[in-house]
Amino acid sequence: MGQQVEFFWRIPTHGDGRSVSSKAWNRGDWKTATSHSIAPGNGDSWGYIDYMAMVAKACEVAGFDGALVPTSLPSDEPLMVAAALARETRTLRFMTAFQPGFITPAYAAKMGATLQRISGNRLEWNVITGGSAPAQRAYGDFLPHDDRYGRTGEWLEVIEGLWRGSPFDHQGERFQLEGGGLSTPLLHTRKPGVYFSGSSEAALAVAARHADFYLMWLEPLADMQAMMQRLNQMAQAQGRQLKYGLRVDIFARETEAEAWDEARRLWDKHDFSAPRKANPMTSVGGGDSVGAQRQAALRQEKSENFADYIIGPNLWSGLGLVRPGPTIGIVGSYQQVADRLTEYVRAGFSNFILAANPHLEEAIRIGEEVLPRIREQL
Ligand SMILES: Cc1cc2nc3c(=O)[nH]c(=O)nc-3n(C[C@H](O)[C@H](O)[C@H](O)COP(=O)(O)O)c2cc1C
Repeated sequence: MGQQVEFFWRIPTHGDGRSVSSKAWNRGDWKTATSHSIAPGNGDSWGYIDYMAMVAKACEVAGFDGALVPTSLPSDEPLMVAAALARETRTLRFMTAFQPGFITPAYAAKMGATLQRISGNRLEWNVITGGSAPAQRAYGDFLPHDDRYGRTGEWLEVIEGLWRGSPFDHQGERFQLEGGGLSTPLLHTRKPGVYFSGSSEAALAVAARHADFYLMWLEPLADMQAMMQRLNQMAQAQGRQLKYGLRVDIFARETEAEAWDEARRLWDKHDFSAPRKANPMTSVGGGDSVGAQRQAALRQEKSENFADYIIGPNLWSGLGLVRPGPTIGIVGSYQQVADRLTEYVRAGFSNFILAANPHLEEAIRIGEEVLPRIREQL
């Protein structure tokens, strides 16, 4: 393989099943076991973490480098999930959602370094500044949108200082430390990589200054390239260089027709008459996420006609209508999906976070059928 590219899969911290609809999830998520659940019920020693461990192990067998551990209001806490999964796996890295506002940098560094020791340096941070104001307020965070990014920037600056060792002092606008800094053996761990997202101006400024990887949800290629160009210039002005990651849902089957059938199956099951539920990660429900607003604009709720949402070769923007989350998915034969993802590598992405329901079976499918085809083409 000529080019260094890392492939991550998503751990479904939010529940899982064959459908994207949470009503049909049957893998023993945090809800009381329902009649259709195929997992043991509450009260047994088996728990949802056992299912997440199966997904994590499937990722290893399937050749993924790592797994995203996302956070949302109802989900399990990602760092604790990652700690448990680290002991169930051997090689998988964990890109763990982490919200700087909620834990002081010194304590976060201690937690991060401890997890590096537990996992053999397999932790990366997916720094989440705030999906939306309502979700932040639910956690007791009332800072306005741009101030949240100001806090993230200073938090990351302190983190860098803490990994230089003790004594570390910091007198900033939001954080003050005296005689801080990690001491051995925590100091000798690898500082987790900083994966970063957010499409607002405030987010881009912090990304340019502190991120290792800037993550995007799939948008038309020209828009993503314009964003990369801007960020490259902003980072270069600071003597830095960014890498780029793409988070995208995949519908891959032997033939293109079968893959579209799978997307259509989700579409046909969706109840378009039901009001769209508030989703803390999107602009629905009064959120202030610029990234989510860009996704909503791409969805353009035009009709209930499936074909209206096919917006390019193997690109379907209907996904965001049938479940909360990013809007555009890639739909195609194994070879077509590999070709599309290879095009994104050529466009400058070197990290991919892929996902599909059910995460267990689809991790194996994508690992067997799609990843080798991409690796062969690089
Ligand atoms: C790849 C990716 C993963 C994300 N994961 C999460 C997540 O797990 N939880 C969350 O609340 N927000 C998540 N977000 C949202 C963003 O981090 C960001 O907070 C949000 O888009 C608001 O920022 P903005 O207004 O600058 O766009 C993710 C965004 C991207 C692109």
